[in-house]
Amino acid sequence: MSTIKVSAVHGDITTIEADAVIVNLFEGVTTPGGGTGAVDQALGGAISRLITQGEVKGELGKTATILCGNAGGGSGSGGLAAHKVIVVGLGPAGSFNLERVRKAAGSAWRAATASGKVKTVATILHGAGIGGLDPAQCARAVAEGSALAAYTFQAFKSKPSLSTAGELVIVERDRGKLASIQEGVARGLLMADATNFARDMVNTPANHMTPTHMAAAATTMAREVGLECTVLEKADMERLGMGVLLGVAQGSVQPPKLIVLRYKGSGSGDGGNHGLLALVGKGLTFDSGGISLKNRDGMEAMKDDMAGGAAVIAAMKAIAQLKPAADVAGIVPCTENLPSGSALKPGDVVQAMNGKTVEIISTDAEGRLILADAVAYAVSLGASTIVDVATLTGACGVALGSGLYSGLISTCDSLVEAIHAAGVAAGEHYWRLPSDDEYKEQLKSPVADLKNTGGRLGGTITGGLFIGEFAGKTCWAHLDIANTCFAEKEAFHQPKGATGVAARTLAELAVRQK
Ligand code: BES
Ligand code: MN
Ligand code: ZN
Repeated sequence: MSTIKVSAVHGDITTIEADAVIVNLFEGVTTPGGGTGAVDQALGGAISRLITQGEVKGELGKTATILCGNAGGGSGSGGLAAHKVIVVGLGPAGSFNLERVRKAAGSAWRAATASGKVKTVATILHGAGIGGLDPAQCARAVAEGSALAAYTFQAFKSKPSLSTAGELVIVERDRGKLASIQEGVARGLLMADATNFARDMVNTPANHMTPTHMAAAATTMAREVGLECTVLEKADMERLGMGVLLGVAQGSVQPPKLIVLRYKGSGSGDGGNHGLLALVGKGLTFDSGGISLKNRDGMEAMKDDMAGGAAVIAAMKAIAQLKPAADVAGIVPCTENLPSGSALKPGDVVQAMNGKTVEIISTDAEGRLILADAVAYAVSLGASTIVDVATLTGACGVALGSGLYSGLISTCDSLVEAIHAAGVAAGEHYWRLPSDDEYKEQLKSPVADLKNTGGRLGGTITGGLFIGEFAGKTCWAHLDIANTCFAEKEAFHQPKGATGVAARTLAELAVRQK
């Protein structure tokens, strides 16, 4: 993880002391206004000339760097104190939104710090001027986008490369807006910090992120932010009758852990009924497929099969600081899925804590198995709403492509609406797939209540609906992040590697929970 400092000050972007200054441009604008116009003037029209020459077009996230010379002595060029100016594109003004602010801020941060030498960066507040968006929200998006872009994972490099750490200062001319901008900054940093925490857990190799390590990470975090954390051990699972979770775990020498984080809502005791929101995340620290062994090619990627669990733990970290009214529980079943003499076999029948029996068809459909007992456990805690999040199916990427939309399966329309709204606020997107009862035909077993795979067709749907069977009548939704938890290449505020997807959505959801 690499964290940056972000602050907001009252001042003038042309006179602020910084190693670099960030300004912006909407696509198609030929005469820059606002802070960009002021910097252009101070530079003697350098930005305008680049626009005329077609060098700068304002495309979203595209950056141009102008070196102002005079390094080391007093003012840079003309009336500008900084020595380097980054012009970042905001895209077309017509379709502008906060996610674009996040993206532009991320690209600009990366461009400003690419040399490894820049430590202090000043920026104008993207979106609050001609963009017409709320300044506090823009400040949140700028802080969040920059802190997300500054993330690097070098824990296992003996010689870490250039640092992208540094300090960002948002320069605001209107003193009256400063307080709300500072609040926005704090919120953005908190959300980015939670996301980067999830990214760290997901990027960590499976031999360093076993169920035991994951439980320790959750416990430490809980102590830091003041959450209650209990870790159920194998003996506890046996006592509770979690035969399905234990079935997956029995092939590994690593002991399984069920992490339970509890947040007591600020609304408790006010007489209102705020209910309990349960967030349940798949914490499969390595998925080899088990006896239904996966292909060797690319199996190293299966260290990220705990991304749902990481999102839940990270969301709980944010929630502890955001202090919503509702009670929230974060439940993360952690285990490895390995083949061995003691491993679960196709054809085996196991029983969940709610009494339901499952015939194992593929031991590689293990995520839904560990979530079955975890969701049943959430019901036993009295959850009024359950959201599970998991790298559940390869089929989700076939349906929705990679990186943009996560899958969403639910039988509770109001929850779907809330997840969509939370996702928009977080800049994360979910696409609802059908959940008709007809699909459950595919999960009928001749020997048990259910079988654990429904065949290739509609795999994301049947996988999700299997988990829903353990939520009973509770309002429930399932997020499939198999196609969004990892980025093959960097873009805007997303470095290559773990994305930390869903952490911010789940935190937003908790904040909006009545
Ligand atoms: N962890 C995988 C899903 C996955 C695949 C995540 C690719 C990320 C990238 C999951 O446990 C799994 O193996 N699912 C099977 C389900 C099948 C056996 C019904 C799959 O998708 O092939
Ligand atoms: Mn699997
Ligand atoms: Zn898996």
